[in-house]
Amino acid sequence: MLAAADKSVAIRSAARFHARTMSSYQTLEVTSDGPILHVRLNRPDVRNAFNGTVVEELSAAFAAADIDPKARVVVLAGNGKSFSAGADLAWMQEQADLPPEKNERGADRMARMFLAIARCKKPVVARIHGHALGGGTGLTAAVDLAFCTEDCLFGLTEVKLGIVPAVISPFVLQKIGVGRARTLFLTGERFDGREAQRIGLVQRAVPEAELDAAVQKAVAELLSAGPAAVASAKELIRAVGHLSLEDAIPVTSKWIAGLRATPEAREGFAAFLGKRKPNWMA
Ligand code: COA
Repeated sequence: MLAAADKSVAIRSAARFHARTMSSYQTLEVTSDGPILHVRLNRPDVRNAFNGTVVEELSAAFAAADIDPKARVVVLAGNGKSFSAGADLAWMQEQADLPPEKNERGADRMARMFLAIARCKKPVVARIHGHALGGGTGLTAAVDLAFCTEDCLFGLTEVKLGIVPAVISPFVLQKIGVGRARTLFLTGERFDGREAQRIGLVQRAVPEAELDAAVQKAVAELLSAGPAAVASAKELIRAVGHLSLEDAIPVTSKWIAGLRATPEAREGFAAFLGKRKPNWMA
C-alpha cells in the first residue's frame, strides 16, 4: 500500500501526465495497445542514459499507469541501439556541482523513479537489448519480469567511474542476492544476458530474433490472469517475502480468505467450473 503522502505525489504526477498529451514527453515514447502500455526510453543518441527529465517523466508515466483503468501490463523498452546506459554522466556531473541539499533532492527523485517502477500496480515487463549498464541494470532489477538478448551487456559499472550503485542497490540485492552482488558491485565487470539469466536478474535470455516473442508470451500470460489477482500476487511477494513460515500464517490465511470472496475470484471459479473463459479474457 502507498502511504498517503506517496499516494498524493503519485496522483499529482499522474494528473500532470494526463494534462499533457502522450506525445509531449521529451524523453519517452508512451503508447497504448489495448491493455498494454508501452513505455520506451527515447534518448537513443546517448543510449537512453537518464537525466532529470527522464527521471521526472518515467516517474509520471508509471504513476499514470497505476491509475489508468485500461492498462493491465506495462512493457518497458528502449529505442535505438541500447536499452539504457544508466545515469547520464553529464547530468551526474551537474548534480555533483549543486549545493548539497539540491544534490540530495535530485538523488532522492532518482531513487523514487525506481520505486515507482517496482511498486507499479500493474505488472511491468522489460525488453532489454544492447546494453543495460549501471541504472540500466537497476531498471532491469526494478521490473517484475525481464527478457533480454543473450549477448546484451549488463554491469554495475559505477565503481569504474568512482561511484557506487547506491539508489539501485536495494532493487538489485532483492533480485540477485548479497553473494552475487558482492562481485558485481565491487568489480563493476560487465556480464552478458546468459549470465543475467543464470543469476536471476532476468527471466530469460534469448537470441535477438526471439526477443519480441518472449516478451509477447509473458504479456499474454499476464493478460490471461485476473487483473486484481496479478496486483495481489505482487503485493503478496512484498508482504510475505521477509516473514518466517510461522509469522506468515496469519498473513497468508487472511489473504486467501479475503481474496477468494472477491468478485474476480468468484468469476474465476465459476468460469472454470462452467467450462468457459473468465470475463477478463473475453
Ligand atoms: N551518460 C551520458 N552519455 C552517455 C552515456 C551515459 N551513461 N552512455 C553513452 N553516452 C553517450 C556517449 O558519450 C556518446 O555521445 P557522443 O555521441 O556525443 O560521443 C553516445 O552516448 C554514444 O555512446 P558510445 O559510447 O559512442 O556508443 P557505443 O554504442 O559504442 O557504446 C555504451 C555504448 C553504453 C557501451 C557506452 O556508451 C558506455 O559504456 N556508456 C557508459 C555506461 C555506464 O558506465 N553507465 C553507468 C552510469 S552510472
